[in-house]
Amino acid sequence: MIDFQAKVAVVTGGASGIGRAMAERFAEEGMRIVIADVEQSALEGTEAEMIADGAEVIAIRCDVSKAHDVKVLAEETIKAFDSVHILCNNAGVEISGSTWAIPLEDWEWVLGVNLWGVIHGLHYFVPLMLEHGQPSHIVNTASMAGLTSGGNMAPYHVSKHGVVTLSEVLHHEFAQAGAKIRVSVLCPGWVDTKIDESDRNRPSGRVSADDLEPSAKMFRDMFSRSVREGLAPKEVAEMVLKAIVDETFYVLPHAHWKNMIHSRMENIIEQRDPSIVLPPEM
Ligand SMILES: NC(=O)c1ccc[n+]([C@@H]2O[C@H](COP(=O)([O-])OP(=O)(O)OC[C@H]3O[C@@H](n4cnc5c(N)ncnc54)[C@H](O)[C@@H]3O)[C@@H](O)[C@H]2O)c1
Repeated sequence: MIDFQAKVAVVTGGASGIGRAMAERFAEEGMRIVIADVEQSALEGTEAEMIADGAEVIAIRCDVSKAHDVKVLAEETIKAFDSVHILCNNAGVEISGSTWAIPLEDWEWVLGVNLWGVIHGLHYFVPLMLEHGQPSHIVNTASMAGLTSGGNMAPYHVSKHGVVTLSEVLHHEFAQAGAKIRVSVLCPGWVDTKIDESDRNRPSGRVSADDLEPSAKMFRDMFSRSVREGLAPKEVAEMVLKAIVDETFYVLPHAHWKNMIHSRMENIIEQRDPSIVLPPEM
């Protein structure tokens, strides 16, 4: 298990929401923190506030969908702190629409951030962890959307299912290699963050309501309402810290949503058609 004091944590998407809450929680444990994010102003604001709260933190602008940016992130981490022990591949974005109507550039954007971002993180940081050989932990942020399938956000589901299986593969590979690296995959339901405003970082700009199909517009409104009623990011960060301490692989902050996972698995085993099962409170 990791002794947190003075160890180094890198958190992508660390300027907002779940990522920021994880960075702040790790700092409370005495860790040195690298927050990486594509949104410069939020990054600077978070860095300044964390420093004011006594954290040892550096902020690095990084678009995780770009291999070069993540390579530089790893180099700058080593330059600043010599090592890395916790990597949270957390940056993520969402877009709504029917599978066939979502522009190809948006498929590329969502898969680029949510799936390639994690692949880039693993590619550049795992060798550093293997090299120092000390206990380390990787937390990949997937979603309940990575364990279930619903309509209106295909790129998000595809990317998050990818992150779940990637994490499972990694767990097997580290065990086979006898590496001292543990993995957790974080699969929350609704959390009260700015995920519903992901298009603030969309390469081609904000999505206008006028450009959405009626079903996508309705879905987007429902999505925002649900996010606002979600868990506080701090609560999720506390669960992540506990998962690192307990070496828990699947982190399910919305344990009461497990009926949706059960239903999907049963449909697969029984070879029934997929069914829509809503979380209990909806
Ligand atoms: N909020 C929820 O309900 C919820 C549920 C399940 C999973 N998640 C996942 O949690 C993670 C964190 O999202 P959040 O809910 O805190 O939303 P958020 O929008 O508050 O935070 C996401 C952060 O990622 C950053 N980001 C976006 N594109 C990036 C890029 N190309 N490179 C680097 N950083 C980038 C954003 O600037 C932002 O700071 C995401 O992976 C998201 O899919 C969120």
